[in-house]
Amino acid sequence: MRKCVIFDLDGTLTRSEEGIWNSVKYAAEKLGFPEPDAQTLRRFIGPPLGYSFREYMGMDDAMAEKAVETYRERYNVVGLFENRVFPGIRRLLRTLKQEGWYIAVATGKPQRTSERVIAHFGLDRFFEKICGPEFGHHADKTELIRRALPDDWDAQADEVWMVGDRKFDVEGAIGVGVKSIGVGYGYGSEEELREAGCTAYCAAVQDVIDLLCPGAQPPQGAFLSIEGLDGSGKGTQLRLLTDVIDRFGFELQLSREPGGCAISEKLREIILDKNNAEMDDVTEALLYAASRAQHVRQVIRPAVAAGRVLLCDRFVDSSVAYQGGGRQLGVQRVLEINAPAVDGTMPMATIYLDVDHETSMARRAAATELDRLELAGDSFHARTEAGYRELIRQDPERFIVVDATRAPEEIGGEIAEKVIRRLMEAE
Ligand code: TYD
Repeated sequence: MRKCVIFDLDGTLTRSEEGIWNSVKYAAEKLGFPEPDAQTLRRFIGPPLGYSFREYMGMDDAMAEKAVETYRERYNVVGLFENRVFPGIRRLLRTLKQEGWYIAVATGKPQRTSERVIAHFGLDRFFEKICGPEFGHHADKTELIRRALPDDWDAQADEVWMVGDRKFDVEGAIGVGVKSIGVGYGYGSEEELREAGCTAYCAAVQDVIDLLCPGAQPPQGAFLSIEGLDGSGKGTQLRLLTDVIDRFGFELQLSREPGGCAISEKLREIILDKNNAEMDDVTEALLYAASRAQHVRQVIRPAVAAGRVLLCDRFVDSSVAYQGGGRQLGVQRVLEINAPAVDGTMPMATIYLDVDHETSMARRAAATELDRLELAGDSFHARTEAGYRELIRQDPERFIVVDATRAPEEIGGEIAEKVIRRLMEAE
C-alpha cells in the first residue's frame, strides 16, 4: 500500500493573507471600487479569485476578470513573497518524507506562482508534483487533486488523503473519492469543514502529524548561536532574525547564556552582579560552565530533539573569548573547563557580529548602565576580540562572520540569507 497526501497551499501550508490582501486592495482601488473591509478580505483566501470578486465584491463576470488581471500585476511581483509558512509545516513535511509518504500540492493558485512560492521557502524538495491551474484557466479542486496524485494511483490499494482548510478542498477530495483532513489553523471554520464532510478535522498542525504519522520520531531541529563583543548590535539582529526564521516556518526557540533556564538564570545573577567584584577568574569561568551544563541538558538538547531551531544569544565561544582571552585564562584551559558542560553539543552555525573593540567600546559608552564585565578595561575587550578571531580561524566553517558596522537592515539581510540557507541544507 502506498501512502499519499495532497496539500492545499494557501491557508494549509502557507499564510498568504498579507500578499493577497494587499493585492486585492490594489485591484479594488485601481478599478474604482471601495476598499474591501477585513471580513471581505478574509473570504478571498481559498476560493478562486474570480469567484471571490464576483461573490464578495458584487462584480459582474467581465469586471471580475479584469480585477483578477489587475490583482496579478501586483501579486506576481511582490505579493507572492508577502507570505509565511505555518509553524510546524516543515516538521510535518519532514516527518511524512521520513515515513515514506508520496507528497504533492493541489492548489487553486496558478501553477507558476505556486512553484515560485514553494521554491522561495525551500519546500520544493518535499513534493512529487505541484498542481495549480495554468494562468487564465480555471480548474476545479477535483481535477487538481486527480492531477496531483501518482499517475498510477489506485483507489482501492492506496491510502490517500487531501489536506485543506476550506470546503473546496473537502469537496474536491469527495469528488475524487479520497479521504480528507480539514485543518482549523487556516482560513475556514470547523463548521464549514465538517459541513462539507471532511473525514477528520485537525485544529493544529501537530494533530495532522499525529493522525498521519502516529508515533513517528520528530526530525532533528538545529542549534544556532550568535556572538559578538558587547555593543555589536546583537539585540537588534536577534529581533530581525527571529522574524525571518519564523516566516520560513522553522519553529524557533530563543535562549541566552548565561541563563536560559531557572538554575542558569540564578547563576547569571551571581556572575553579572556588580557587587561580586572579588570574584576570581577561575570561579567565574566555572560558573559560566556550570550554567551552560544545565542549559545544554535542560533546554538546548530537548529543543533540538523536538525539531525546533534553538537560537542562543551567546554560547561557549563567549567563554573562550571573554574568560580565555579577556581574563587571560587561556583558550585551551577554558575549553577544558567547558568540555563536560558542552559534552559535544555545539551550534550548527554561529553568527559572529564583527565590530572591532574600539567601535564596540564607543557604542557601549553611549549605553547607560554597564555591568561588571562591561566595566572591565579596554585591553580586556581587545583580548576578547582576539579570542574570537582565534576561534573563527580554528573553525571557519561554523562561523558566519558579518560586518556589523553597516546599517542594521543590511546586516540583517545578509544574516537572514545565510542562516536560512544553512537551515535548509540541514533539513
Ligand atoms: P548580557 O547582559 O547578556 O550582555 P550581551 O547583550 O552583551 O550579551 O551579558 C552577558 C555578558 O557575559 C557579556 O558581557 C559577555 C559575558 N559572557 C562571558 O564572559 N562568558 C560567557 O561564557 C558568556 C555566555 C557571557
